[in-house]
Amino acid sequence: MAWQNRLRFLFEYTTVKYVGMQNMKIGLLYRIFQLTIMGYLIGWVFLKNKGYQVKDDTIESSVLTKVKGVARVNSTDSDLWGPEDYVFPNQGENFLSIATNFIETPNQTLGNCSENPEVPNNKCSKDEECTVGEAVRAGNGIKTGICLETHNGTCEIYGWCPTEQRRDPDPANVVREAENFTLYIRNFIRFSQFNFSTSNVPKVNRKLLLKNCLYDETVHPYCPIFRLGDIVNQTGHKFEEMALRGGSIGVLIEWRCDLDKDSDCRPHYSFVYLYNTSETVGFNFRFARYSTDAAGQRRRTFYNVFGIHFDIMVFGTARKFCIIPTIVNIASALTLMAAGSYICDIVLLFVMKKRSVHTESMLERMTMNDKEIPLKIMPEGPVEM
Ligand SMILES: *[C@@H]1O[C@H](CO)[C@@H](O)[C@H](O)[C@H]1NC(C)=O
Repeated sequence: MAWQNRLRFLFEYTTVKYVGMQNMKIGLLYRIFQLTIMGYLIGWVFLKNKGYQVKDDTIESSVLTKVKGVARVNSTDSDLWGPEDYVFPNQGENFLSIATNFIETPNQTLGNCSENPEVPNNKCSKDEECTVGEAVRAGNGIKTGICLETHNGTCEIYGWCPTEQRRDPDPANVVREAENFTLYIRNFIRFSQFNFSTSNVPKVNRKLLLKNCLYDETVHPYCPIFRLGDIVNQTGHKFEEMALRGGSIGVLIEWRCDLDKDSDCRPHYSFVYLYNTSETVGFNFRFARYSTDAAGQRRRTFYNVFGIHFDIMVFGTARKFCIIPTIVNIASALTLMAAGSYICDIVLLFVMKKRSVHTESMLERMTMNDKEIPLKIMPEGPVEM
């Protein structure tokens, strides 16, 4: 049966022959190696890096915000501001600006007037230099074709007149109460890989908690309501300074979720000033409020607003036990362990000082073992069974 003989190798198993060595140094080396690998596997791979879990760091997040608080202000339109007056935009998105100071230009009407002398490229000495219908670059209106000698030779414009007053923000005008305004952040997150979702608003006692709590790093670290003054202080700036010229603040919400542990999925809040300088850079924007007076004339109040701009950024990871990385990590540690015995063999054969003695004794033991346990000799040619 020639084909049967050829297939016999399929049903053969070759074993490795082990040689036991009574050598303190090598034995110790091997044990140290094994301990190191075990320590690496348990300490570093499993405890430190959670090698038994899979990770999902694509966080799906939705943020809603709400600001509360009222303030007395000194403005032409009203002397009381609520969130509907000082929050921009009003919808409650993940970025918002809260007005803390402003310069207003009241009672503007559409008509002809002189352009602000600070606007560049608007100088003239005769009417021909002011092209009718041309817009003033970085200016406030359209040229009427008249050169106003009385205003240091600038082109007259058609626009909302008088034009904006450009001056430095006034500390006396700062909305002081803004320090006590509160910012409520609702953050809903989802890790689709684990089909897990949660939010930063605690589920138990929700109504009661939201009425009373105020975020504090140590006392109430999970309260989603923040006092503006506290946020600014945490960035290392003074509220009064930032309120004067405005500034940008990043609110970072970090989620580190271990889904193997119950309820270990909570947000961590931190606040950063969004420019890499110690001084306040400032943040401002402009808007206008329109009205019609008794005579039917359209009027507007123009504001240059300084405020605190918040950008709420959400990031994080979720982890959960999974058998595959566990097996892979254990297997790779076992492979390293096997490498240990090779290293010990090499040390034994080539590095140890009295290497000839060792090699000899090793060979001796090998022949001795051969006598004690007769090993099956591999057949050299085909043998009939
Ligand atoms: C903020 O609130 C505290 C306590 O309610 C009060 O003492 C303080 O005067 C308030 N600050 C401003 C600027 O209104």
